Amino acid sequence: MRKDETRPLITGSTGLLGRAVAAHFENRYPGTVSATREFLDLEDFWRLRAELERLAPSLVVNCAAYSDVDGSERFPDRAFRENRDAVVNLARACRAIGAVMVHISTDYVFDGKSDEPYREEDLCSPLQVYGESKWEGEREAIREHPDMLSIRTSFLFGPGRQTFIDKLIEKGRQGEKVRAALDWVNAPTYTLDLAAAIDELIVRGCRGVVNFSNAGWCSKFEFGREVLRIAGLDPAIVEPVRRADLKLPAARPERTVLDLSRYSAVAGKAPRPWMRTVEEYLKGGAA
Ligand SMILES: NC(=O)c1ccc[n+]([C@@H]2O[C@H](COP(=O)([O-])OP(=O)(O)OC[C@H]3O[C@@H](n4cnc5c(N)ncnc54)[C@H](OP(=O)(O)O)[C@@H]3O)[C@@H](O)[C@H]2O)c1
Repeated sequence: MRKDETRPLITGSTGLLGRAVAAHFENRYPGTVSATREFLDLEDFWRLRAELERLAPSLVVNCAAYSDVDGSERFPDRAFRENRDAVVNLARACRAIGAVMVHISTDYVFDGKSDEPYREEDLCSPLQVYGESKWEGEREAIREHPDMLSIRTSFLFGPGRQTFIDKLIEKGRQGEKVRAALDWVNAPTYTLDLAAAIDELIVRGCRGVVNFSNAGWCSKFEFGREVLRIAGLDPAIVEPVRRADLKLPAARPERTVLDLSRYSAVAGKAPRPWMRTVEEYLKGGAA
């Protein structure tokens, strides 16, 4: 797709990732439309299709989701409506108008029992409602629109919405203890890097399923200590626990590190190490 022919539409643009993607695409492609749920509700197929016909985007980047992992256990209907049915609607509408679709998926499609990084073709076997709803959404959307790109990512942080990193800084400033699990491992991903990666993959014509996170991995405990060390706060406030001690409503996979070879081969470079992106985020006046 040539740059001057690209007319992107970003869904879920008020979310954590959606804000970064909207900012990136608005800057690169002046005709970008960044849609809120009020403007474009993905659950209403016929209105969605009519709006897509009117706007005629060449590319739709779907950042909309019900991303609350614990909330999905309490509200499974909502999880399947927003993470499966809405995504299938969008895939169907994109195919009807001939738009390229990029969808965002998750490392929680995996059960986390492997010591090896997960490759795109590895077996999906989610442990909780959120992962199940995301996996069904991804799978059924690809069936509707085989020429789409689904990017699986993990543990997002970035400007616009409070995440674990912001809580760590807040607790660090107050000198309060934070419990973080040793047996809960994946790779942090800076939303600004993911936004740029989406653009790179699309420019190179990439389709199918691709993993993207920042390089390296850590447990939530290691992440907590490292964030506080980088911020010049006391890392010792982070106390090691097990996932089970946190008594979270939804099960979390133990280790969902994503294999980044496919992304690196397409983009011609590896993602940045996660620690560098944490430094950059904290320098930018996070939280
Ligand atoms: N956060 C993570 O650590 C993480 C990790 C791996 C993968 N992911 C994936 O990354 C993507 C972005 O996640 P996020 O954390 O940025 O999510 P988020 O902050 O919760 O934002 C989700 C956005 O989707 C919108 N939305 C939900 N249902 C919609 C609908 N039916 N129609 C239109 N808009 C709708 C929400 O609008 P309202 O504000 O109006 O509800 C919100 O703007 C998701 O696909 C998620 O599964 C996230």
